[in-house]
Amino acid sequence: MSKDYTSMEDSNRSSNSSIHDISEPSRRNFLRGSAAMAFLAPLGGLTTLAGCASTAEVAGNGPLLGFASIPINSIDTVSVPPGYTSQVIAAWGDPVGLSGEAPAFKTDGSNSAAEQLAQFGMHHDGIHYFALEGSKSGLLAMNHEYVDDGLLHSDGLAQWSAEKVRKAQAAHGVSICEVSQAGGQWQVVLPSPWARRITANTPMAVSGPAAGHALMQTAADASGRRVLGTLNNCGSGITPWGTYLTCEENFIGYFNGPDAPNAHETRWGLRKGNPSGSRWHEHDGRFDAVKHPNEPNRFGWVVEIDPMNPSSTPVKRTALGRAAHEGATVALTRDRRAVVYMGEDARFEYIYKFVSRDAVKPGGASANRDLLDHGTLYVARFDAEGRGAWLPLVHGKGGLDAAQGFADQGEVVIKSRQASDLLGGTKMDRPEWIAVDKQGWVYCTLTNNSNRGGKDQPGVDAANPRANNTMGHIIRWKEDGDHDGLSFQWNHFVLAGDPLNERAEAKGNVKGDTFACPDGLWVDGRGVLWIQTDMSTANMGKGELAVMGQNQMLAADPQTGEVRRFLTGPVGCEVTGVMMTPDGRSMFVNIQHPGESPSERSDPAKPDRYSNWPDKRPGARPRSATVVVRKADGGLVGT
Ligand code: FEO
Ligand code: CA
Ligand code: CA
Repeated sequence: MSKDYTSMEDSNRSSNSSIHDISEPSRRNFLRGSAAMAFLAPLGGLTTLAGCASTAEVAGNGPLLGFASIPINSIDTVSVPPGYTSQVIAAWGDPVGLSGEAPAFKTDGSNSAAEQLAQFGMHHDGIHYFALEGSKSGLLAMNHEYVDDGLLHSDGLAQWSAEKVRKAQAAHGVSICEVSQAGGQWQVVLPSPWARRITANTPMAVSGPAAGHALMQTAADASGRRVLGTLNNCGSGITPWGTYLTCEENFIGYFNGPDAPNAHETRWGLRKGNPSGSRWHEHDGRFDAVKHPNEPNRFGWVVEIDPMNPSSTPVKRTALGRAAHEGATVALTRDRRAVVYMGEDARFEYIYKFVSRDAVKPGGASANRDLLDHGTLYVARFDAEGRGAWLPLVHGKGGLDAAQGFADQGEVVIKSRQASDLLGGTKMDRPEWIAVDKQGWVYCTLTNNSNRGGKDQPGVDAANPRANNTMGHIIRWKEDGDHDGLSFQWNHFVLAGDPLNERAEAKGNVKGDTFACPDGLWVDGRGVLWIQTDMSTANMGKGELAVMGQNQMLAADPQTGEVRRFLTGPVGCEVTGVMMTPDGRSMFVNIQHPGESPSERSDPAKPDRYSNWPDKRPGARPRSATVVVRKADGGLVGT
């Protein structure tokens, strides 16, 4: 999400110092393609999954960064280096491939809510390619983070109705589609037995320590175990057993709060009126937290989805803790326990990891259906001198007991923020995506925090060293021992910024092409660290960001620190979500909210005021979409 809503959350006032069932052929193919990496020998002493997720067999002989970097520009298109091509697929409103349901996108925004349920949602974000036939065909699972009601409906917010709420809810969530290529040209397969839409109304199961908890029970669900929908799905991850993890980020903005929120509600940013203006509560009572105070507790989770089983029920994995989750990146310990790294993107919030109790079993999703329900959740504390520690969020330890307001482990994970406050986790500058490189370094983007060092706000610390951090930075750490280590060494991989900026805190130390506000992050099979930016449209091209151009994707060499600009997006977009086919020759990149207004929702009377990408017709609504980037000669992307 880029729009710097005045509601951008800043709720931390704590005083701490700051693989599938392999009986199916498709699953066997998947194992060969990506998740098989999980069972390979450790790399560089630490086994990584994220770093080699889908390009396991790709090596390449040339330099890590072999392309010519491109300059910033103001063109309303996707720009890639010389010798590269880009192709748009899977735009908002295109049919996702449901059998017998292929409603065409109506350029005036007049598709119904029912039609939207069969189409790609809005605001594409995290994405993954699950191979069906190697790099020729596969499934794309992708997140739809939020919507712009000014573009979603023909007349925007006018005559707000239950139908408009249902359409907005249908444009959220996750799309799963089948894609295939012929001669390097990709297409969405219509129809496909795997095609699926998961929305803000899709029934979900709840598992782990918060399942059935009193704080999870509502009038509609006395069991506290069955939630409708997933919201504000931002970053994503995959598991070694072949499932997709989608992460619920700024969910609190969908709820109407009371006049005087209690301490728990305040800590999670609940306010009277929807800060993001979703207005869902006007026609869908469960989003009125005054009447249904536990409903917000049922969001903010990491949701596990089996893309290969279209009838499977998504599961909210509460053992991983509740947060405004950005992403969930899985690594493996040497004894094959899953470690899930997660950032919470809000000012002064925390970085987490979950270590599973059990090792990953052969046998895919069915054999590991409970793996993420048992384990230990930790919050990170970054100390001076480049050292850090993981603090366990375990009931009965570190003061996490009834006397402090934590009756049981369920309450600890529902109130992860309060637990982290008590333990003394380090308040970070908006932790976004996390990636693991081939040497076992774990990288986390800290996108920015203009409140750092402000009046009555936390000051700088070793890990967050710049006041009024408009540019953001990337921190990295290496665990002592293995990914389950309780301590680590850390350093800054890069401080983003403009070396010519007059303000010392905004100069940064980028070796190569300048950038600001890192967000998406991924290590490919060759070891390239891909960095995607999310400068808010309110600030893009202005002030300290004036020289940064539009949002973009850059490639970095983890060894040398060199950064090269690889892709720039259309006007007003955010570049977020990246993945490749196993052969490393097709890269999928999501372009979110092209044409986003810098100050308000889009004007439905002038939908192309800022952008009409990708349709490029006068009056066309700009649409989020997936872009496939390839080398014209069919070579490895990035070389
Ligand atoms: Fe949805 Fe933190 O970006
Ligand atoms: Ca962001
Ligand atoms: Ca993001």
